[in-house]
Amino acid sequence: MKSPVVLITGCSSGIGFHTAVHLSEKNCTVYAGMLDPEKDAISLKNATSIPDSLIPLKLDITKTEEIQNAIHQILDQNGCIDVLINNAAYGLFGPVDSCTMQEIKDQFAVNLFGTIELTHAVIPIFRKQQGGKIICISSLRAFKSSSVQGVYSATKSALEAVGESWASTLFPWNIFVTLVEPGATSTSFPSNMIFGSFYSGQEDPYPNVLENSLNLVNEWNEDKMRAQDPKEIALLIERLINEPSPPLRIQTSDEAKEEVSRFSNDPTGAVWLKEEQAIMSKWFLSETSTNNSSS
Ligand SMILES: NC(=O)c1ccc[n+]([C@@H]2O[C@H](COP(=O)([O-])OP(=O)(O)OC[C@H]3O[C@@H](n4cnc5c(N)ncnc54)[C@H](OP(=O)(O)O)[C@@H]3O)[C@@H](O)[C@H]2O)c1
Repeated sequence: MKSPVVLITGCSSGIGFHTAVHLSEKNCTVYAGMLDPEKDAISLKNATSIPDSLIPLKLDITKTEEIQNAIHQILDQNGCIDVLINNAAYGLFGPVDSCTMQEIKDQFAVNLFGTIELTHAVIPIFRKQQGGKIICISSLRAFKSSSVQGVYSATKSALEAVGESWASTLFPWNIFVTLVEPGATSTSFPSNMIFGSFYSGQEDPYPNVLENSLNLVNEWNEDKMRAQDPKEIALLIERLINEPSPPLRIQTSDEAKEEVSRFSNDPTGAVWLKEEQAIMSKWFLSETSTNNSSS
């Protein structure tokens, strides 16, 4: 069988890194998008014995020229792309009104608009080939926002809406779309987060929230909470690539499945709101947050 040609974004760390390494060991030709491949390829090479089938690629998904160059390189070298994995994203942290408009626009520029632009550059190729798979790394936060991840959640909810629409329109060309929904996963996500800075230099209505959010992030960094191993997600993505008819939506763990069904069993949002307000109150009281909020 011909080895699938895979383009994946955001491979310098985390889910992207592990998926790129895993797929390249499993008969895929993997183009691993990175912001700075010269720097990040070193960590890839150090990670394990990387096969030649893993090719680092300079790809900032907010840059049209880099998107075009990446696609030309893959087509020149292979003549096709079989799978696009939209993984690159980061978190903007803090209450929505603690984020500047620029921070909010930058967050959407990467997590949503860059993802759409890259996908729209790949769709004509998939149409011509009469087939292809688009796998988007979404999040539980698409369904379950939080007091301090409202903007990030908004980008993931929007990605789900766009992904559902792609799935409903692209099927005549045998193009499948899957939204992969992880809960907390043990990656560099917390340390790559940006904190909303709207109130910096003025009286901050959320001082304790931000202080305790930092404690929460530190907990994530110290890996104290029950976070999924990104290698499990890499295995799941391999299964999706091999699946003739992959699902539209998939949660990456039992915990993630439970959270999604809890959400659908709370149609008025009352249960969620009460829980989230309790977390807010706790943070306002300056207690160190011990909630198990996830990204
Ligand atoms: N970790 C979690 O708990 C969790 C839970 C649910 C969903 N997710 C989702 O999983 C995906 C992977 O995140 P992760 O947890 O693996 O975090 P991560 O380790 O921070 O990986 C994110 C990757 O995206 C890259 N990136 C950032 N901006 C980019 C841009 N403009 N163009 C291209 N690449 C860019 C980063 O590159 P640099 O490092 O070079 O900046 C990094 O390689 C994301 O979509 C995230 O939303 C994560």
